[in-house]
Amino acid sequence: MRLENKKAIVTGGAGGIGRATSLALAAEGAAVAVVDLNADAADAVAEEIRTAGGTAIAIAADVASEPDIERVIATSLAELGGVNIVFNNAGIIRRTTAVETTVEEWDRVFGVNVRSIFLMCKHIVPVMEAAGGGSIINTGSGWGLKGGGQAISYCASKGAVVNMTRALAIDHGPAGIRVNSVNPGDVNTGMLRDEARQLAQDTNAFLAEAADRPLRRMGEPSEVAQAVVWLASDDSSYVTGSALVVDGGGIA
Ligand SMILES: NC(=O)c1ccc[n+]([C@@H]2O[C@H](COP(=O)([O-])OP(=O)(O)OC[C@H]3O[C@@H](n4cnc5c(N)ncnc54)[C@H](O)[C@@H]3O)[C@@H](O)[C@H]2O)c1
Repeated sequence: MRLENKKAIVTGGAGGIGRATSLALAAEGAAVAVVDLNADAADAVAEEIRTAGGTAIAIAADVASEPDIERVIATSLAELGGVNIVFNNAGIIRRTTAVETTVEEWDRVFGVNVRSIFLMCKHIVPVMEAAGGGSIINTGSGWGLKGGGQAISYCASKGAVVNMTRALAIDHGPAGIRVNSVNPGDVNTGMLRDEARQLAQDTNAFLAEAADRPLRRMGEPSEVAQAVVWLASDDSSYVTGSALVVDGGGIA
């Protein structure tokens, strides 16, 4: 197992990509703190890991809140005995143009998608420094690398995720902390269905359009999870500041 004795925090760990990654990290031997706004769903993922013989705890938290992030880190350190891996993955999307977006919606998207990563890094980097290093993976998006329609706050937030990842890698590489972004294309999760609903589009038609890429299908959460496992593990020991695209060739 590639992550034996490692301890990981996964935010948005109850959702599609976060759940699959929590399971995949645990399958490689990591103890996992499953962090999510949805307490019951986080509990269920942690229970699923323990039933499979792994180690996991669930922590209900809003990643946009500094007190919540501090509590997530304190609880993980106390209950798991350390933190070597952080997957900053919680995210939300609002399918609106600049004209349609309220200031409150803009701030909430940036709170969950961007501020959360700043807060987690602000408080976890000293912990990782003291431990001699670590691996941080941030979930960007294809729309952090190119533009997309009717998603101004999301595109802006994911562009920020991709570039703050590079800045973090520069600042904390000397301490042995690697920071990378994983950038999925359309992945078969609740978020995609929610987008169809927000745009008042037929779900099947929306999903068919999502599959229109070189590999001719949407991604599965487990396929993003495997990329995250690789970035978390020593197999990627010389990789930092990168924006890894996992999108069936969509950006290409
Ligand atoms: N699904 C896709 O096609 C796709 C494509 C590109 C990028 N992404 C990104 O992948 C990440 C995961 O998306 P997903 O598709 O698994 O979505 P999802 O909606 O299935 O899961 C997201 C999870 O995050 C949790 N969450 C939301 N706000 C939170 C908050 N404030 N604090 C804590 N937890 C919170 C939700 O409860 C949910 O469990 C997101 O950052 C998303 O932007 C997804």
